[in-house]
Amino acid sequence: MPKTGKAPKWGKWLVLLLGLLTRPAAAQTASALLPLPAEANYGQGHLLLKTSLKPLLPAQVDPAVADAVGRTINRLSLATKTAGLATLQIRYGRVGRPELFDEERYSLRVTPMGVSIDAPTSLGVLRALATLEQLPRTDKKGRYLPEVDIRDQPRFAWRGLLIDAARHFMPVAVIKRNLDGMAAVKLNVLHWHLTDDQGFRIESKVFPRLQTVGSTDGLFYTQAEVREVVAYAAARGIRVVPEFDMPSHTTSWIVAYPRLKSADSTYAPYTRWRTTNVAIDPTRETTYTFLDSLLTEMTTLFPDPYFHAGGDENDGRNWRRTPRIVAWMQAHKMVKADGKTVDKHQLQTYFNRRVMVMLQQRGKTMIGWDEILGPDLPKEAVIQSWRGKKGLNDAAKLGHPVLLSSGYYIDLNLSAASSYLTDPLPPDTPLTAAEQKLVLGGEAAMWAEYADSVVLDSRIWPRAAAVAERLWSPQAATQSVADMYRRLNVLSPQLETLGLRHRRVPELLLKQMAGTSNVVPLRTLAEVIEPVKEYKRNFQGFNYTTATPLNRLVDAAPAESDVARRFGVLVDSVVAFKPASPNWLPASLRQLGTLRAQAVRWQVNDVLLQPLLAANPSLTEYGPLSTRLAAVATVVLERLTQLQTGQVPSLAWLAATRATLDAAQAPAGQAELAVVKAARKLVGL
Ligand code: ACM
Repeated sequence: MPKTGKAPKWGKWLVLLLGLLTRPAAAQTASALLPLPAEANYGQGHLLLKTSLKPLLPAQVDPAVADAVGRTINRLSLATKTAGLATLQIRYGRVGRPELFDEERYSLRVTPMGVSIDAPTSLGVLRALATLEQLPRTDKKGRYLPEVDIRDQPRFAWRGLLIDAARHFMPVAVIKRNLDGMAAVKLNVLHWHLTDDQGFRIESKVFPRLQTVGSTDGLFYTQAEVREVVAYAAARGIRVVPEFDMPSHTTSWIVAYPRLKSADSTYAPYTRWRTTNVAIDPTRETTYTFLDSLLTEMTTLFPDPYFHAGGDENDGRNWRRTPRIVAWMQAHKMVKADGKTVDKHQLQTYFNRRVMVMLQQRGKTMIGWDEILGPDLPKEAVIQSWRGKKGLNDAAKLGHPVLLSSGYYIDLNLSAASSYLTDPLPPDTPLTAAEQKLVLGGEAAMWAEYADSVVLDSRIWPRAAAVAERLWSPQAATQSVADMYRRLNVLSPQLETLGLRHRRVPELLLKQMAGTSNVVPLRTLAEVIEPVKEYKRNFQGFNYTTATPLNRLVDAAPAESDVARRFGVLVDSVVAFKPASPNWLPASLRQLGTLRAQAVRWQVNDVLLQPLLAANPSLTEYGPLSTRLAAVATVVLERLTQLQTGQVPSLAWLAATRATLDAAQAPAGQAELAVVKAARKLVGL
């Protein structure tokens, strides 16, 4: 809502009137593309989608391109498959290679006669088709493509999504549908986290105990399945970079092959989420003999020239507490400045260097988490920063290629806006032009402690798309968080038509929990709660293991509540307009009315929902959240009345309200109300 505090009263009416007149037209021309292209010029014409487009492909077309064109034509879901006169002309220079930083540039032109796509490589064609699939609009003419001339290329070459298939195994079908989601938003690297303390999820024919006894459930990808995923990704212009996390995060390896262990302990498969700091022994030659065989086998499965060797979260306790290893470190002068205390970082660097050489011998560039950074690490190692932006900048300043993931940890249930506002190279970057060239891009990271194959999609989508846009689109074109959310809401149902289940699954879980066909009261609560943020779910009295079902209300709750966000947007505009009271404009009155209706719904909902929560043992823990939502609703209603009548709240009311809102912030069942912040803003507390 524009601020018009200084304008005369009729001025506000004029602004409102203009707003009403221009809004429908603006909605028609507003792009719903996500990520936004580098350049798009819309014309006045349109191409009706009544009959199918007739593909015109190069004579010797790459099969991946032909398949992708077929998918696009299907997805445009034309009313009749009869080919009309309009054509889809595809031209490209050469077949692109997804395993390299190959050219993804394209141009896409829609005229009333047809669509033409031109690109230097077939990868550009795939990106253009993803754009084309987002172009259709519907109005009284029917479904049509707007006339447009798009020229597009990515800002960063590396735009990844990490999927952790180790904590919870993610079947091939789950990976494939997420690859389809990635392709739709032009993400081009699947970072496949295949091994961790809790499981080794890929078949080794050389060391088969890794996959069979390393986890409690024994689930893993066969090598044939890995090849299938790599091919599926490549056909969509997506690289697959595997991660074998070491020297820590390796309990599963040690359970299978105890000769790898550092500490003199016995190990069973690890079934909890806390970091173990268990590490393999970098001082024994047999460790490297093992890795030599394992890496020979694993590197051949993945054509990508990059290979992730992990390196995170090893505090060295396994090494420091093992006299044999301490003696080895002292003998090799891996000590701190005092000349005595062993320095685990030096041992880790020694290990990283040896792994790096093995990988180089197999044509691979090593990637590691930012913990591996140190003065002795060769510059070719790529650093993936997760502990903060500093890691990114430090690594680039030391001459390493870098990837940003800090700020893109979508498993932490932070808002899409927070990822969107995280930029690998913000305007105030401390990096020089040469150092900036080392920033390859970034990756959204979906760790799977609290996501199984059922709820995974709903923890990734649509928020990963905000990261995709940040990494693809020009910085200058992506300044509006509100517009990002507008387009995210258009994209989200489109992603479901590709096979993702991020909207359907929470609804199914709610139905299952409610146990009745009337899911509305439970949904009304579920849609305004969110899982507790960051790593708090580890620390709230509930003991998770790998076997804990993820089917509670917290698992059906959105990572970011859309209802709460929209409530917040309305509150913002009402609060911004407050100076205009007591002469509320109709628009503000309408907003007040919407807020009031929402609050009444929440208040009434508690009455409807409590009997269900009380009767269902798996839901009882959420009773307090429903009670608190009703209390927040009461406060909101009282405040709306004050605003509308110009009444000033009493000190006693403010004190009581503060107490209500403080109490409403408390989590229950590892979930929290997402509307408290906006309620505070409305009240001015
Ligand atoms: C990490 O999150 N430990 C890389």
